[in-house]
Formats: sequence, structure tokens, C-alpha cells
Amino acid sequence: MKHNGLKGMEDILPPDIAVWQSVESSAREIFGRYGFQEIRVPILESTDIFIRGIGEATDIVEKEMYTFMDKGNRSVSMRPEGTAPVVRSYVEKNLHTMPSPQKYFYSGPMFRYERPQKGRFRQFYQIGAEAFGIAAASMDAELIIMLKNLLEAIGLSDLNFEINSIGCAACRPAYRSALLDFFGDRRSEYCPDCQRRYETNPLRILDCKVPQCGQLRQGAPTVAGYLCEDCRTHFDEVLAILNSFRIPHTLNPNLVRGLDYYTKTTFEVTSEHLGAQKAVAAGGRYDKLVEDFGGPATPAIGFAMGMERIVTLLKERSEIKQRAPKVFVATLGKEAELEGFRIVETLRAQGVWAEQSYGSASLKSQLRRADRLSSEFALIIGENELRSGKLQWKDLKKSEQGEVAAADVVSFFQSE
Ligand code: HAM
Repeated sequence: MKHNGLKGMEDILPPDIAVWQSVESSAREIFGRYGFQEIRVPILESTDIFIRGIGEATDIVEKEMYTFMDKGNRSVSMRPEGTAPVVRSYVEKNLHTMPSPQKYFYSGPMFRYERPQKGRFRQFYQIGAEAFGIAAASMDAELIIMLKNLLEAIGLSDLNFEINSIGCAACRPAYRSALLDFFGDRRSEYCPDCQRRYETNPLRILDCKVPQCGQLRQGAPTVAGYLCEDCRTHFDEVLAILNSFRIPHTLNPNLVRGLDYYTKTTFEVTSEHLGAQKAVAAGGRYDKLVEDFGGPATPAIGFAMGMERIVTLLKERSEIKQRAPKVFVATLGKEAELEGFRIVETLRAQGVWAEQSYGSASLKSQLRRADRLSSEFALIIGENELRSGKLQWKDLKKSEQGEVAAADVVSFFQSE
């Protein structure tokens, strides 16, 4: 019986995997320059972590988590994002006792039971970064600049950076009540989700994608008018640094984000080439979350990028090269086969991708296989070659051929 993978959960296969690996290695390299170290947190966490971190009334927690009871009758969930687990670890492992700032990055699969569509999966991969301990605007700007540098380094320089400040515990209540006043009059005309959001988190109505809600909310009060002195100054400073580094960005007062932990700065990076799921990365400040998790008051900020969306953009831009062996060793006869195996292993030990013929087949069929693997060279060893110590090589791309002494094989293929 043939088995199928689950809906919304994709296999990532060669040659695409090369694009994934190159993004991951650029991230490692660039994050390293900014002092971010890798952290690996589990895929399964206690469900409370996400209820507490992301918020009980968010779409993620209400509808999208893979939650189940484990064999010990504990409610566990597969992580829908990385921030809450990293904060859990930061507090549990007393990482706040280390010198500030503590900067971490992670990469790995996240799980959300959403309706799969282009660019939206139930298992998807994020690379994320989180910085703890610094409240200053320069940290917000540094993180955004680091993200931009990474995206540019991998070849994505035409993305839009949107930014907003959603205030803090001091100024949000006034804004919230202004929104309630505004939405209240026509409340029954909003979508059922927004009617619920009206009770739980009216800010979320601002980024509802239902067209009717988009029209109804025109003229809604914007957060800018409600920011307290501290949030206003902080946001102005972030923008001033971005301007001085000539980082193009758009102010988007509706950028409220779908996770409840955010305070002050929020940002999102979008592409016009992705259709409806256009956010390739998103993040913001979460200055209260460490405290909410039982740690000391610790300002923090982070972001996560969606790998599938980034890989889609990169694949549209350049053709992916299929990796191919440097040399295929074709042999005739038992003795030559063993000698071929030995040469293949020697080449591999010296860093050359070599393939062997695995058993007896005609020379013609071995060369056909070399060709199908797109091998650059074939090396032929038969009785004559064994006797003379001179092996025949064929350049399969240029249709050239020649001889090389058995003792010189490694240097020959290393230099070719
Ligand atoms: P998020 O906006 O939920 O934020 O996700 C970040 C990115 O992950 C999105 O911009 C998108 O590229 C990708 N993504 C999200 N859901 C899916 C999906 N179902 N399929 C494919 N890609 C998806 C967070 O997760 C926060 N933890 C970011 C953060 C870190 N904020 C502070 N620190």
C-alpha cells in the first residue's frame, strides 16, 4: 500500500535542500557577527507555555495548536513558534544571570493547524532570533538591520519593511477603549472572528484580512495618537536610527501582529511576489514576557523568518544546480572492482565526490550510469590498466580523454 504524507506537511528534497542549507549557513554566519548563539529548544512543550506566552484568545492558541495528552496525562503541544519556548528556557535555566544582552537564534520546524495554501503549511520552518536584556531603541534597530543584511546576503533586496509601535501596558488601555468606541457602533457587521476579537483583543480587528472588516475599520483611531511619552520617544529613536542607516521602511499603523506578547515595536517584512501569504519575516518587542514567565523584568525583542517563503522567492530568482559527482569509477573484472573501490574511498577521503559501479555491469552501462548522474569524469579500470598502472579518464562534459598514473589520481581530480 502506498502512503501519503499529511496535508500541509511537506518533504524537502534535493536539489531544493541546497537552497535551505545555504540560507541556514548565511544566517549562522551573519547572526554570529552580531553575537547571536544557537539555542535548541524542544518541539514539544507543556501547553501552558503557549497559552501564557502567545495568549489564550489568539488564533494560534484557540484554533491552530497540535495539542494532545501524553501518556502521563499532561497536556502538551507541538510548538507553533519559537519565542515562548526560548523565554521558558531563558527563565528556567537562569540565563538572565549571564551578562546582558543575551542573544540567541534557532531554526527548526513549527506546527500550526491552519488551512494549507500557497506559502502556508501545517509544518513549516522558521529561523528566529531573540535578544534579551536591552530596552534601548538601538537594539530594535540592530535586529532589523541584521535581518536586512541577512536577506540581502541571500539575494533578497527588494522586500518591504513595515514597522509600527503598539504601545505598552501604560498606553494600550486608552487606545483599546478608543477602538472599542469606534468598532462598537457597527459591531454586528464585522466577521464572526472580529466580533469575538471585540471582546478579547480589539487591536486584532485592525489586521483582519476579511474585505468587509477592512472597509468597516476605515477611519479607526491609529495607535500613534495614543502612545505614552516613553513609547513615543522609543519609537522615534528606532525610526531615526533606521533613517540614518538609510533602511527604507513603511509605517503601518495596522501592524498589530497575531500574538499577544508584543509591546512597543512590531515589524514585518513582506514580498510582492508571494500572493496572499506575503510575510517572509516578522517580529517585535516583548518587554513583559520574561516577567510573565516568572523571571525578572527583562526587555526583549526578536523576529522569525518563514523558510518556505524565502526559499520560494530564491527558487524563482535562480536555477538550482543539481549536485553531481566529480568522478565515476567504472571497472571491469573482480580485481579491478576492488581497486576501483579503493580509489573511490581515497578520493572521498581527500574531499572529492566519487561514485563507484557496485558490481559487474558492461562498461557501456556503467558509463550510461555515470552520465545519468551527471558525473564530470569517468575513470576506467580494466585488466590492462591494472597491469600498466595507467588509468583511463574521460571528461564526460567535454568529450576529452587521457591517462593518469594510479598514484596521481587524487591530485589529478583535485586540480581538475
Ligand atoms: P509569526 O508572524 O507568527 O511570528 O511567524 C513568523 C514568520 O513565520 C511569518 O512571517 C511567516 O514567514 C512564517 N510563517 C508563519 N506561519 C506560517 C505557516 N503556517 N506556513 C509557512 N510559514 C509560516 C512568530 O512566530 C514570532 N515568534 C516571531 C517573533 C520572534 N517575535 C518575536 N520574536
